[in-house]
Amino acid sequence: MLDAVLFFFLFYTLCVARFAPEFADTVCTITPNPSGGDDSAAIVTTFERCSRNSIIVLTEGTFHIDRVMVTTGLQNVKIDMKGTLLWSTNLDYWRANGLPLGYQNQTVAWMFGGRDVHWEGNGIGTFNGNGQLWYDLANGTSNLAGRPINLMITNTTDSVFDGIRFVQSQFWSMAIMKSKGLLLQNIYVNSTSFSQVNLPLRAPTQNTDGVDTFYSSDIIFRNWTVDNGDDFIAPKANSSNILIQDSHFYHGTGVAIGSIGQYPGIYEYIENVLAERIACTECQFTGWVKTWTGVQQGFPPNGGGGGIGYAKNLSE
Ligand SMILES: *[C@@H]1O[C@H](CO)[C@@H](O)[C@H](O)[C@H]1NC(C)=O
Ligand SMILES: *[C@@H]1O[C@H](CO)[C@@H](O)[C@H](O)[C@H]1NC(C)=O
Ligand SMILES: *[C@@H]1O[C@H](CO)[C@@H](O)[C@H](O)[C@H]1NC(C)=O
Ligand SMILES: *[C@@H]1O[C@H](CO)[C@@H](O)[C@H](O)[C@H]1NC(C)=O
Ligand SMILES: *[C@@H]1O[C@H](CO)[C@@H](O)[C@H](O)[C@H]1NC(C)=O
Ligand SMILES: *[C@@H]1O[C@H](CO)[C@@H](O)[C@H](O)[C@H]1NC(C)=O
Repeated sequence: MLDAVLFFFLFYTLCVARFAPEFADTVCTITPNPSGGDDSAAIVTTFERCSRNSIIVLTEGTFHIDRVMVTTGLQNVKIDMKGTLLWSTNLDYWRANGLPLGYQNQTVAWMFGGRDVHWEGNGIGTFNGNGQLWYDLANGTSNLAGRPINLMITNTTDSVFDGIRFVQSQFWSMAIMKSKGLLLQNIYVNSTSFSQVNLPLRAPTQNTDGVDTFYSSDIIFRNWTVDNGDDFIAPKANSSNILIQDSHFYHGTGVAIGSIGQYPGIYEYIENVLAERIACTECQFTGWVKTWTGVQQGFPPNGGGGGIGYAKNLSE
């Protein structure tokens, strides 16, 4: 425990010193298509053109996202986001075209990555996944194939994500893959179902996790508000040195350690996870550990087991 605290203190000190990129004065501004057409191509081309030493501004207004996006390899880029990104209602498109997460057969709508990136949402920049359609479609089916994670942060180092909002996410709001040295703070996530396909209950919002991490280390989650129907923050395979603090969670199932051990013979670990100053309102749990059984029962994404590994040094 003490080791973990010391580690986090050192990590924090190092990070704050390093999280201070100097941005060049190339400013690339994206405004929504005035006729309300698809903005995804304009976003992808701008991120390509301004992938180094740039400031990318997403202005106020609503950007329509009708296609999957890949914006990786950024270097020393600030994203100044004020508008809303609204994902399209063409569920058949998304189910057929999701990008691979590389785990549990899950898919992704936006694959994002770089180093020395500072994504500033200003407390208003919003991802709106149009999730109600997905909650109604799934209507209780766990891990419905092709239901996409909104944002995957992948192969990303020394980066900050600040003041971003995620509402009505299709599935998990975020996944973090193969990344190191991240600070995600002042993040608001709210996936709430209003529909009545399941009268007298509403279509459930299961699988609307806030964020899941894989093969990643040295991550601080600070001041998150998450209101959802599943895990809030879930460190999964090979996640280490994770600090979660000053956060308020509502309705969901807690900070979940795991699951791990879903793939037979595959070695996975989770270590040094500290959650502190967490408030939970009407949560099912505050924190819990999820592992698969030693004997495999079925196949991923909804079955599995037989994996090996460990989870250690977890504190709350
Ligand atoms: C994996 O995803 C694909 C496409 O999303 C789907 O067709 C397939 O049924 C899924 N496999 C399993 C085991 O869920
Ligand atoms: C990860 O990013 C680095 C640069 O930041 C790049 O050199 C490398 O090719 C990327 N790896 C993958 C698998 O994309
Ligand atoms: C915490 O994040 C919320 C957004 O969810 C923001 O409104 C609030 O100002 C943040 N608190 C601090 C102390 O920065
Ligand atoms: C989440 O959204 C619902 C519906 O808009 C709202 O009632 C609830 O207060 C929100 N939760 C938080 C924590 O803001
Ligand atoms: C949703 O699931 C519930 C419970 O299984 C069922 O009663 C209801 O008919 C379903 N609704 C739709 C639109 O499929
Ligand atoms: C996860 O960690 C284990 C133990 O260090 C390692 O053997 C395995 O290759 C890692 N998995 C991946 C995909 O990096």
